[in-house]
Amino acid sequence: MLFISMHIVHLLAVILWIGGLAFVTGIMLPMVIKTPDALQKVLMFQRVEHRFAPLAKWYNIITGISGFIMVWQMGWHKLYFTKAGAALTFMTGVWVFWFVMLVGLEPIVIRKMLEKMAREGDKMDIDGIFNKVKKLHWFMVAISLAAAAAGAIVAHGGYLY
Ligand code: HEM
Repeated sequence: MLFISMHIVHLLAVILWIGGLAFVTGIMLPMVIKTPDALQKVLMFQRVEHRFAPLAKWYNIITGISGFIMVWQMGWHKLYFTKAGAALTFMTGVWVFWFVMLVGLEPIVIRKMLEKMAREGDKMDIDGIFNKVKKLHWFMVAISLAAAAAGAIVAHGGYLY
C-alpha cells in the first residue's frame, strides 16, 4: 500500500513538474525572447521564474521523498552504481542535479542575476544571456525526460536484466 501510494505521488509530482518545465521552455520562453524591449524581457522572465521556481522546488522535494521511500522499502539502495541499477542511478543523478539547481543555486545565484539584469540590463548582452537560458532550459527538459524514461525502465524493465 505504501509503495503504490508513493508511486502515484511520485508520478503526479513528476507530471506537474516536468509538464510545467516543458510549458515554460516551449511556450513562455519563446514569448519572452520575442519581446523587443530588453527590460520588459527580463521582467517578464523574472515574473514567471518567481512563480514557477518555488513550485518546482516542492515538486523536486516530493519526487525525491516518494522515490527514496520506494527505494528504501524495496532495498534497492544496494543497486546504486551497479549495472542492474543503472536506470535508478541515472534517475537519482538527475534529481540531485535539480536539487542543487533549485535549492542551492536558484535562490542565491539565479535570483541575484535576474535582479542585476533588471538594474543594469543596458550594459549587458541580454539577448546573448537569453540564448544561454534557452539552451539550458532545453537541456533540462531533455535530461528530465531521460530521467522519466529511466523511471519507466526501473518500474517495468525487469526483462532487460
Ligand atoms: C528528475 C527526477 C525524477 C523523475 C523525472 C522520475 C520519474 C519517474 C517515472 C516517470 C517513473 C516511472 C513510473 C512508471 O512507469 O510507472 C519513476 C519510477 C521510479 N522512480 Fe523516479 N523519477 C525521478 C527521481 C527519482 C528519485 C530521486 C528516486 C529515488 C531515489 C526515484 C525512484 C523511483 C523508483 C524506485 C521508481 C520505480 C517504481 C516502481 O518500480 O514501481 N525517482 N520515476
